[in-house]
Amino acid sequence: MKVVLASQNRHKLAEIQAILAQYDMELVLQSDLGLQIDVDETGESFEENSELKARAVMEATGLPAVADDSGLCVDVLGGAPGIYSARYGAPDCVTDRDRLNHLLNNLRGVRSEERTARFVCVITLVWPDGRKLVARGSCEGLITFEPRGEDGFGYDPVFYVPSQGCTFAQMGADRKNAISHRANALHRLEALLDQENE
Ligand code: IMP
Repeated sequence: MKVVLASQNRHKLAEIQAILAQYDMELVLQSDLGLQIDVDETGESFEENSELKARAVMEATGLPAVADDSGLCVDVLGGAPGIYSARYGAPDCVTDRDRLNHLLNNLRGVRSEERTARFVCVITLVWPDGRKLVARGSCEGLITFEPRGEDGFGYDPVFYVPSQGCTFAQMGADRKNAISHRANALHRLEALLDQENE
């Protein structure tokens, strides 16, 4: 059965396809179906936004659809930037580097033990018959005082994972993909699909 991914991102396609293949689901990008659906992320949680994206694509195609929503939540900032991670500090902040520096500025004077944070990822799979699976994953860390490492994207250079002794941007894609919020959400999705198929 075909399942449509509500994203343009081929890296996400490969990661999610690896899980869905076991359940006879073939993941396709909406662009491969000639669709270009941009959804306003008006939800107030990762769950709401991922469901909004999945549902819009499911309604446009009549096929099951999957979407994810993710971001960085910093405890001392009350969970910010959270669902606003991609547009943190807008309109002044335009690039990943701007947003990362904005975060470091907002944490000026905050001691290392109070810089706790987590990346969160929610993956939602919806079917035209009304079924829905929601899988949340997270990865705990600390925000550094300055960027470290060159790999990855977004806030990777300031996200230090104590169990690994380095930031997401220093550990390489394979290690990051084994422990990340997205990996954990995918494991959860796999467990939920196992339950569905029991
Ligand atoms: P999206 O859910 O893929 O659109 O990601 C939302 C935003 O969260 C991104 O633009 C990044 O700023 C941030 N983000 C999500 N996942 C990661 C990650 O693995 N590393 C760094 N930043 C991330």
